[in-house]
Amino acid sequence: MKIDVLTLFPEMFQPVFQTSILKKAAEKEAVQYRVINFRDYSSNKHKTVDDYPYGGGVGMVLKPQPVFDAIEDLTKEETKKPRIILMCPQGETYTQKKAEQFAKEDHLIFICGHYEGYDERIRSHVVTDEISIGDYVLTGGELASMVVIDSVVRLLPGVLGKEASHELDSFSTGLLEHPHYTRPAEYKGYKVPDVLLSGNHEKIEQWRSKESLRRTFERRPDLLDKYELSEQQKIWLKE
Ligand code: ADE
Repeated sequence: MKIDVLTLFPEMFQPVFQTSILKKAAEKEAVQYRVINFRDYSSNKHKTVDDYPYGGGVGMVLKPQPVFDAIEDLTKEETKKPRIILMCPQGETYTQKKAEQFAKEDHLIFICGHYEGYDERIRSHVVTDEISIGDYVLTGGELASMVVIDSVVRLLPGVLGKEASHELDSFSTGLLEHPHYTRPAEYKGYKVPDVLLSGNHEKIEQWRSKESLRRTFERRPDLLDKYELSEQQKIWLKE
């Protein structure tokens, strides 16, 4: 997968793309990152990328020209259309389902701005997806795009080893994950549930499944609305 980021602050991405799994993913050639300062595409001699809003008002608006030209340049050798993702608080709220969709693409381009606004023609003629990472306002789209990129890259084939497989993640299964424990079996008097020490795999699986359901019921009952319960899970919920 190719991931391009258009930003005025390319230095923000270095630590993220050069650390841990996102770095390993690039080394394994599962992903190729390019971070582009779209100021470089400004046709203006002062390299400006913003201007005053028509009709007046506070704040500046991101001009269409640098973004249109950058996208044209990044896609000029492509036949398949990439997903062009605008990070903004007005966008569709990001979910694991969207991460799974993005992970199937060959090319994602993220547009990150620090603006009161984007010229609407960017939204209507360039962008394929507008994404918000939650109902709060950040100073810009950079951190938000990193959240999306992180969640997508970990889903790409070969990026996570078998031990860290994503198939059992919270949200992928539709439920939150069950609790985890490691050694020692007792710490400061706090004990690991006996069943996990029993060696009985069937019982352990049953415990995990029940705890996963309990956790979802207690913390995110809204997730159960979309989840199809097994007969056993329906019984557990009534307990
Ligand atoms: N830019 C500013 N706030 C944002 C948010 N919540 N999600 C995505 N992009 C943003």
